[in-house]
Amino acid sequence: MIHGIGIDLVEVGRFKAAMERRGRRFLKRLFTESEILYCMRRKNPETHFAARFAAKVSLFKAIGRWGRFTDVEIVRAPSGRPVVKAEGVDGLRFSVSISHDGNLSVAQTIAEEI
Ligand SMILES: CC(C)(COP(=O)(O)OP(=O)(O)OC[C@H]1O[C@@H](n2cnc3c(N)ncnc32)[C@H](O)[C@@H]1OP(=O)(O)O)[C@@H](O)C(=O)NCCC(=O)NCCS
Repeated sequence: MIHGIGIDLVEVGRFKAAMERRGRRFLKRLFTESEILYCMRRKNPETHFAARFAAKVSLFKAIGRWGRFTDVEIVRAPSGRPVVKAEGVDGLRFSVSISHDGNLSVAQTIAEEI
């Protein structure tokens, strides 16, 4: 049974400005080490950071409450598909989808009861 869905849209330019203004501590508050490594290896890291931020916010919307950003990790399946690992959320499983275009990154999460 579906528990909830959530969606979030992030302007990449604004996210990049926050990254530049607030530095590494900003990233470490929001992302796990492996997410940081993944995004840093990409051509436009800010696009992938913004998408992961959107994914986490969309997951919190799907659950119906805020959580700690680093308790949610977006990992990459061999196909490239994003997969959610979430700590401290019992009884739910998540499906997430991400897209980027120009200055926008969007993510949607579906939470299902298990
Ligand atoms: C999936 C795919 C269509 C996305 O292409 P795109 O339109 O250029 O890219 P978008 O900006 O819309 O989406 C990029 C995001 O899609 C997600 N993604 C990548 N491969 C994916 C896949 N196989 N399944 C689901 N999601 C995928 C990733 O989260 C990626 O963002 P990230 O690199 O920040 O994690 C492309 O990677 C592809 O052709 N893959 C191989 C074929 C395939 O698996 N297709 C499945 C859907 S038709």
